[in-house]
Amino acid sequence: MTQSKSIPELTERICGSCAMANIQIRKYRDEDAEIVKELFTLGMSEHVPSSFTHILKRPLTQMLLMCTFCALITSSKSFLLPVLAVTLLLAGFRQMVIYMFNKYIETSLSKDLNNISETYLQQKDSCFWVAESDGRVVGTVACLPAESAPEFMELKRMSVRRSHRGMGIAKALCRIVADFTRERGFPAVILYTSVVQTDAQKLYEHMGYTKTREFVVPELAAKILNFTLFEYRLDLQQNKERD
Ligand SMILES: CC(C)(COP(=O)(O)OP(=O)(O)OC[C@H]1O[C@@H](n2cnc3c(N)ncnc32)[C@H](O)[C@@H]1OP(=O)(O)O)[C@@H](O)C(=O)NCCC(=O)NCCS
Repeated sequence: MTQSKSIPELTERICGSCAMANIQIRKYRDEDAEIVKELFTLGMSEHVPSSFTHILKRPLTQMLLMCTFCALITSSKSFLLPVLAVTLLLAGFRQMVIYMFNKYIETSLSKDLNNISETYLQQKDSCFWVAESDGRVVGTVACLPAESAPEFMELKRMSVRRSHRGMGIAKALCRIVADFTRERGFPAVILYTSVVQTDAQKLYEHMGYTKTREFVVPELAAKILNFTLFEYRLDLQQNKERD
């Protein structure tokens, strides 16, 4: 295990590298609970439209819509019925996407995000940080030993308010997790993101993470929609992080 700086020292140094001078990163406090939940919910909900588009772009979806349309137009000789059926199918897909995201959001809000202090701040190998701009929480990140591979640290709950994106806040949050992980003696950080979270993929690749696995979420709705998750990994022993 490497002995280096304490977390307060780390926080100060990392904030110094943020593009905006008035951004500060600090540990979570209980009074942040509601705004953290709001940031997480907004950050996740914004992926509903792109997930729907992603599903529509799948050849299998297009084939299903086409076959339904053709089968109904030839069998019923009516134009209205196939149009209605395709519209219903589209509405069904959209509802499935909304259901999948809502379920994930509700599960997260009722688990770790319902008790952040207990989940992240009471053990030495986990932490939750917020980024503050002019006293307002505009970003979050957390980490704890990965459930499926406790030898690695898992980065979780990365989210930055839309109005504060593109300022380097997420990069600073990534760095604080990497430094914390190194300080605690873990060899790597892992994280999960999805096929539609393209900004997050760019961010992690920019920070030196490499994609190690792709898999479909083991949930019925996700399986039907073929919703893929990516596992990323930052190997701290190879010092891959770029700026
Ligand atoms: C992903 C997210 C956290 C990025 O936050 P951010 O503060 O805007 O990111 P940064 O300003 O630190 O940008 C970091 C890097 O990410 C990449 N990046 C981020 N957003 C990007 C975009 N819209 N287009 C292209 N690259 C982007 C770039 O490489 C950028 O570095 P650069 O500006 O030097 O090129 C933010 O978009 C977000 O909160 N999204 C919704 C929630 C979410 O999906 N979280 C991820 C959970 S796994």
